[in-house]
Amino acid sequence: MDHFEYREGVMHAEDVPLPRIAEEVGTPVYVYSRATLERHATVFREGLSDVPDKLIAFAVKSNPNLAVLRVLANQGYGADCVSIGEVRRAIAAGMAPDKIVFSGVGKTHAELIAGLEEGIGQFNIESEEEGLELAEIAAKMGKTAQCTLRINPDVDAGTHDKISTGKADNKFGVPIDQAGQIFGKLASQPGVNLRGVAVHIGSQLGDLAPLERAFEKLSALVTSLRGAGHEITHVDLGGGLGVPYKREEHLPSPAEYGAMVARVTRDWRVKLIFEPGRVIAGNAGVLLTRVVRVKRGINDPFVIVDAAMNDLARPALYGAYHDFVAVEPRGVDMTANIVGPICETGDTFAMGRLTDKLETGDLAVFRTAGAYGATMASSYNSRGFVAEVLVDGDKYAVVADRIAAATIMDAEQVPDWLD
Ligand code: LLP
Repeated sequence: MDHFEYREGVMHAEDVPLPRIAEEVGTPVYVYSRATLERHATVFREGLSDVPDKLIAFAVKSNPNLAVLRVLANQGYGADCVSIGEVRRAIAAGMAPDKIVFSGVGKTHAELIAGLEEGIGQFNIESEEEGLELAEIAAKMGKTAQCTLRINPDVDAGTHDKISTGKADNKFGVPIDQAGQIFGKLASQPGVNLRGVAVHIGSQLGDLAPLERAFEKLSALVTSLRGAGHEITHVDLGGGLGVPYKREEHLPSPAEYGAMVARVTRDWRVKLIFEPGRVIAGNAGVLLTRVVRVKRGINDPFVIVDAAMNDLARPALYGAYHDFVAVEPRGVDMTANIVGPICETGDTFAMGRLTDKLETGDLAVFRTAGAYGATMASSYNSRGFVAEVLVDGDKYAVVADRIAAATIMDAEQVPDWLD
């Protein structure tokens, strides 16, 4: 459920009519709803009510906006980060460092040092090489890094290839059949306290079965690690729960996910860590855009909007579907190709889509754009960076300024030897 609804024929974010935001802030603009974020945070936490000891660490990559992170910090959430930039955002937003998990397959030497300096709660080590490097750095700094070892369980998550992370040939984690030996080697290093294992098999999962298979494999691994004398106190189960991009889609609910987790992990006696991103932020945001013009096509007309693939990359990158509707529908439909202004054919949000009839100057939204939306924006075609707004009841605030193309150009220099 979200708080983007029509009232008297006009789409509102909570109590704010979207035309007001378009007028005052301009388009394209991402609009987030605080009430929706809080609702999703609550529903996810309640789904896990049968898991006694847990940390929910929001996957910052899905929406790193400081105001969004603050909303989740207020909900008691920690953060799952994959760069020191994300770690610093989470801390700046008020998240306690000990609730921060540092994942990522390519943490640099400098990032490992900085993570230790920030006092983050857990490093998810993705390789033997990284573990040895972290151990050496921590020992030199006189610190002990709290760690888990990320396991690649070789499970097909059944999602888009580009966002699948748990198959044997994906770059993530250590192969499960080598996990015991690598764990033993890393656990004996001074500088690290290797206290558990981690897994994340992919994103936008529409089926709990692959997750359950991965967790069962982890269960067997935990037993065998304990059998080898290791103390296992933490297991990180990652994120990945999908959201409905189409209204009629049915996906497993947080309650169903939580019941499965509670069942599989009943005897584990560990603290569980969760890293949800999309399920919290996805339906808490829309991308508000204005129709530049409608152009005749050979078949369907092209509705050219002022948002483009640089603002919302998912359709171009993954062929992803985003619901597209008018802010003030006329009660008439059209079949159209929805495209942005960027100079490549990939800048297409939808072909032959049945949508509300739209004319030049009309406002429309791409729904379910709160996760992996603004965070993946670029300035391709010398377009600026899209603005972001957070709505709370009948008020809103700009929570990320539009960064003008001119400002980006200000960071560039022409060396005088080119004269
Ligand atoms: N934990 C780890 C280690 C991850 O790699 C990810 C996502 C998450 C948690 C959060 O997953 P979620 O709960 O959001 O599914 N840009 C793509 C999604 C990439 C996901 C990468 N990893 C998209 O737009 O669909």
